[in-house]
Amino acid sequence: MSEQGVSVGIIGIGTYVPDRILTNHDLENMVDTSDNWIVERTGIKKRHIVEPEVATSDLAVYAAQKALVNAHVSADELDLIIVATATPDMFFPSVACLVQDRLQAVNAAAFDLAAGCTGFVYGVATGSQFIKSGLYKKVLVIGAETLSKIVDWTDRNTCVLFGDGAGAVVLSEVRSGYGILGIDLGADGSGGDHLKVPAGGSRIPATEQTVAGRLHYLSMNGNEVFKFAIKVMGEAAVKALDNAGMDYHSIDCLIPHQANIRIIQSAAKRLKLPMDKVMVNVDKYGNTSAASIPLALEEALEKGRIQHNDIVVLVGFGAGLTWGSCVIKWCKEENTIV
Ligand code: UT7
Repeated sequence: MSEQGVSVGIIGIGTYVPDRILTNHDLENMVDTSDNWIVERTGIKKRHIVEPEVATSDLAVYAAQKALVNAHVSADELDLIIVATATPDMFFPSVACLVQDRLQAVNAAAFDLAAGCTGFVYGVATGSQFIKSGLYKKVLVIGAETLSKIVDWTDRNTCVLFGDGAGAVVLSEVRSGYGILGIDLGADGSGGDHLKVPAGGSRIPATEQTVAGRLHYLSMNGNEVFKFAIKVMGEAAVKALDNAGMDYHSIDCLIPHQANIRIIQSAAKRLKLPMDKVMVNVDKYGNTSAASIPLALEEALEKGRIQHNDIVVLVGFGAGLTWGSCVIKWCKEENTIV
């Protein structure tokens, strides 16, 4: 989809991770694993984990408050709040409504969006269309997760991979020619079984048996998701660039979903990008699902890796299975970290 009409971009960003850190060495005491295996196979060294009483909306609110300050936008100016999450506080109300209340964003509509780890890219794509259509002026998009609440801490295949966190951006009209220039979103529901939480929904409601069978935890066929990710990351970025009238030569900074360093390296290779143009922080946070792209984006901004006029490409994949990419021409005046 190429972007016509008013230019829409990110005018502020904020992130939050909980204080508590779980290292690979901590995990060695919990399951049959090793720091060596985790680093070699995933690139992850540590992850941040919430305390038991903390829920996804708490992280979302902290990130949102920072994004609003960064954007110089007050909560009552928001027209819409979208929260991308796979770990909502509860079935309903939505996390977005909980956030709307906590922020006192009294003029904002609010809804959650379920696209797994691709949720943030889906959220930015969706939110931007409300502004392009002229319906709304300011949209808050949040990717927030507490994967630690649904990970089976006895399963070494999955528990070493995930972490908690949140990232939020404020979308608004920006200077003509800047902001989001191209989007590609996709899904292949036939692969849904590869990454899911089997029970607790209307198909298999919660019972004593489902709890005993550990069916409320995340279950994943890691190898299948890996193969899927390797294929779609490069393809999605190329399509989004094509929609923006560009190709891989144009990329100044790639912000990939942070799931596994090997997946990121493979995407970079397919896009013929040197790793110094690719933001990597999976080592510090693990896979934070819908929060991973905004966490990486903010770090790239803080480190000065994104400059005025740079072409920034967000690209992700996740449960669904889904994928998505977004090409942004960065405008420094409207994207200053405070
Ligand atoms: O955001 C989307 C969410 N998901 C993902 O991005 C996951 C994508 N997949 C992956 O990142 C990789 O497939 C994994 C990291 C999950 C697994 O890496 P792999 O190199 O594909 O390993 P594998 O599954 O082929 O397992 C190799 C071996 C197995 O042992 P055997 O059967 O060869 O004896 C596993 O049991 O490694 C074993 N293993 C572990 N060993 C130590 C699996 N997990 C661990 C572990 N520590 N934590």
